[in-house]
Amino acid sequence: MAPSFRIVADAPKADLFVVPVFTGARPGPGADLVDDAVGGTLAEFVRETEFDGKRGEVLAVPTGGRLRARSVLLLGVGDQETFDAAAIRRTSAVLAKRAAHAATVATTLLDAVAPDVDRALAAQAFAEGVSLGRYQFLRYKSDAKASELARVLVVTKPDAKVRAGLARGARIAEAVLWARDLINEPAAAKSPADVAELAKGIARTSGLKAKVYAGEQLVRARMGGVLGVGNGSDRPPRFLRLEYAPANAKGTLALVGKGVVFDSGGLSLKTAGGMETMKTDMSGAAAVIAAMSTLRDLGVKSRVIAYVPLVENMPSGAAMRPGDVLTMRNGKTVEVLNTDAEGRLILADALSLASEEGADAIIDLATLTGAVTMALGDKIAGLMGTDDAWIAQVSEAAERAGERMWHLPLPEDYRRNLDSEIADLRNISSGGGAGTLTAGLFLKEFTGDAPWVHLDIAGTARASSEDAETSKGGTGYGVRTLVELASTFRKP
Ligand code: BES
Ligand code: MN
Ligand code: ZN
Repeated sequence: MAPSFRIVADAPKADLFVVPVFTGARPGPGADLVDDAVGGTLAEFVRETEFDGKRGEVLAVPTGGRLRARSVLLLGVGDQETFDAAAIRRTSAVLAKRAAHAATVATTLLDAVAPDVDRALAAQAFAEGVSLGRYQFLRYKSDAKASELARVLVVTKPDAKVRAGLARGARIAEAVLWARDLINEPAAAKSPADVAELAKGIARTSGLKAKVYAGEQLVRARMGGVLGVGNGSDRPPRFLRLEYAPANAKGTLALVGKGVVFDSGGLSLKTAGGMETMKTDMSGAAAVIAAMSTLRDLGVKSRVIAYVPLVENMPSGAAMRPGDVLTMRNGKTVEVLNTDAEGRLILADALSLASEEGADAIIDLATLTGAVTMALGDKIAGLMGTDDAWIAQVSEAAERAGERMWHLPLPEDYRRNLDSEIADLRNISSGGGAGTLTAGLFLKEFTGDAPWVHLDIAGTARASSEDAETSKGGTGYGVRTLVELASTFRKP
């Protein structure tokens, strides 16, 4: 359960009181209360422990029961000038991890942000950081010790912007956690049909229209990529379409997410090690569905449509073979030379449909290439796209949401590496490296005239260690950017 947030004017009764301290051990807001409780010896105590107030540094202070809080924690926040929304998101995640044994935490942290930072954005980032930092996936742990943190009391001057920011941050974090849970779930427990059913349930409670294509419907919809990849699995594919349509919507944004519930590579089988984390190959789909679930609650004004192909990529007697040719929804033919390059095949159908239905702009999220991890690591996604204004809009939304991405090129002259001897395209490059860019160039063939951005999240979707608001395992990367993008969407 995510914690609740409440604004209080004075330091209240709590299990833990967290006070920010700036670089150079300069006391932040609320430190005076602690100093009073320890008879004016706080500065001396801090000096002796060599606590400097570096961002993320923590120091417990014994107060001998002279404060309304049971215990006190000093939390380093670094220099105030650079303590912005991204920094408070990270720092409050540290706070949440340290507060795992406190049911109620009170903190003055929000008042430590740089004065030029918007209070609503800071409050949102604070709530996100606490909820995300607290996350653990414990479903399959029999001796699970869940975090006890249930209530967060934000000690600050009551203000409508802060209240709205906290509520928004808590709602967005809830969606990110939902995505993480689904990504961390073993593949056996999330067939394409299961994910589609789950999404239908979400649609019912979130004011979305849902349509799920299965079997013959996929054939009639000419989803050659989805059918081709899905054929090797005993668990048949689905195609999910979710629609959020508020009255008097100004424009239509299309979200596309890669939903490979397990990627064995198919007949171009991966190694054992390469398969270990492939239950997370539906992270794009999870991010898109999670983002859709928030739109009504957050009062989004634009129409938003999600296109989510759901498949399992498996080897079998029925699996597509290297050398087979698939015909995609937009009529283009693809020679499949490597069945492990499956993401682009299912995205081809989804992008075709999104552009056909007249989206004003498209963004897709996909764990598409191992190569993007070589280039950018696991904290920065690769961004490619066809329209400078749309690319700028996505980048700015990501910046506000605190998710990192880097613009990569789509070099026209690399397109020839996708020329096939017998079809319109081949699904892997015939040479020349740049695996991430050629995957992008492949997708571009299916986007029609719509401004389009592709995020390769193969690196960022999963983390191998805890890092502030990013959890080990599925990260839910992209949810925050998609929600911000939908909230501020303008036709590019
Ligand atoms: N799902 C993988 C990409 C991936 C790799 C995601 C590692 C996360 C971690 C994708 O379907 C894939 O297999 N891509 C191939 C493409 C190649 C065959 C052209 C890859 O990156 O090796
Ligand atoms: Mn693959
Ligand atoms: Zn894949």
